[in-house]
Amino acid sequence: MLNLTVDSLRSGRRVLSGNLELSVPRSEIHLLRGPNGCGKSLLFDVISGIHRDNGVVLAIDQQRPGGSTSHDRWQLGVRRLFQSPRLPDSLSLDALLERVRANTSVAPDWGKYLFDVYRAAGVSTVGTFGSLSFGQKRFAELVLTVSNGRAWLLDEPFAGFSATLRQSAIDLVNAAALRGAALLVTDHLNCDGAMRFDQIHDWVFPARERAENAPETGWSEMLETLGKTHSESNWTWSIPQLTIGERLVVRDGGFRLRAGEMLLLTGVNGSGKSTLLRALANLEQPWVGIRSQVKASAMIEDIFVSPQPPKLVGDISVVGNLGLMLRSQPARLLAAHRLLNAFGLGRVFRQPAEVLSGGESAIVAIIGAVLSPARVIILDEPFESLAPATRKATAGLLQAVLARGKCAIIATHEATSRELFQNETRVNLDQQNSITAKDFGSLTHSPSLN
Ligand SMILES: Nc1ncnc2c1ncn2[C@@H]1O[C@H](COP(=O)(O)OP(=O)(O)OP(=O)(O)O)[C@@H](O)[C@H]1O
Ligand SMILES: [Mg+2]
Repeated sequence: MLNLTVDSLRSGRRVLSGNLELSVPRSEIHLLRGPNGCGKSLLFDVISGIHRDNGVVLAIDQQRPGGSTSHDRWQLGVRRLFQSPRLPDSLSLDALLERVRANTSVAPDWGKYLFDVYRAAGVSTVGTFGSLSFGQKRFAELVLTVSNGRAWLLDEPFAGFSATLRQSAIDLVNAAALRGAALLVTDHLNCDGAMRFDQIHDWVFPARERAENAPETGWSEMLETLGKTHSESNWTWSIPQLTIGERLVVRDGGFRLRAGEMLLLTGVNGSGKSTLLRALANLEQPWVGIRSQVKASAMIEDIFVSPQPPKLVGDISVVGNLGLMLRSQPARLLAAHRLLNAFGLGRVFRQPAEVLSGGESAIVAIIGAVLSPARVIILDEPFESLAPATRKATAGLLQAVLARGKCAIIATHEATSRELFQNETRVNLDQQNSITAKDFGSLTHSPSLN
């Protein structure tokens, strides 16, 4: 049993939560629910001893921790899955899986079961952690997290996965509960109810605080001060070849984006979405196994790229980060402040970016992308850590900015893309055969025309 009493949770001088009491019995899975930035991950930080807060009292099976360091909490059996992968890229997968198999304190056959689940999910067992895609890294960390301990804090354990890996993660979490641990989970993605929780705890806001919901529409008025649109923009990419390892992902591909158009890239984890996005932006690839020939009519300054997960410079302020993204143009910074306010985030403007939650950072990155002077925006899974209402709001903001003449290329998982967009061109990278020009549908642009 995980027992938690929160008098008040603070971030600096700001009170994040009112009184929250919860007990998670062994073998139960409880959901901790609240909007982006309410303090869920911070509470997990306090429980796991990464952050200290005297207003939070913890007991596991009636046992109080001897101290408040992460080592004390580890000794007590607390294990934590982070929103973004934390293991070093140089770690060998062999060593990681050996650790999983050896971690049998929950039940003797559990390590073997986990190893089988990992293999069945199709994630590589050889090479290094750094060679996995984002979703595959999250799955590997989930498997490691639940390999032992008595209380598991899983921060968005289903985010970053395509349908198959997501189902494997759901099955794994359900199986983990049966092993007798207490699970406390955060999750923004359960719109389809695929995961059933034993109990749901809603975040308790202090009296003065209220959760803001950004609007889905009305963004165009907020963007008006930015002046003229770029309706004459028209960009082409030709992709004679993109090879990942042995796999020829794109052959004789190419597309044209006009102002206001959007291309969605979907595909299972590891299918090559992030790799293709990097290639389209002419960025260097992280390993030698990728061979890409891409010709883009857009120059580097025409393209804004937001990676997966979005990256902000932690030790400079949010306004400083936005200044970098918006090339310090005052009208754009003013608009950024207005958009942050619309998302209920006006207060973070002068805060160091490192205090932002995962979802808040994602919102700042999207604001940077839509307001940047670049006319092509490339976003790698921008919606994954956002609460459902915020996802819809950011999709509305993107549509508004496209209507003003930008164009966008976005990697997302199939379910999210269906939830947020209807008529945009989708290219699915899972296909048996390589993607060719005609797969880009109405956006098709034959490489030979270049
Ligand atoms: N440093 C590396 N060394 C070896 N292989 C790598 C490396 N980086 C990526 N890969 C491989 O390249 C392939 C494509 O990865 P990529 O990150 O583009 O996938 P993705 O579709 O974006 O997946 P996700 O949905 O999980 O983000 C994967 O099979 C991955 O294992
Ligand atoms: Mg990716």
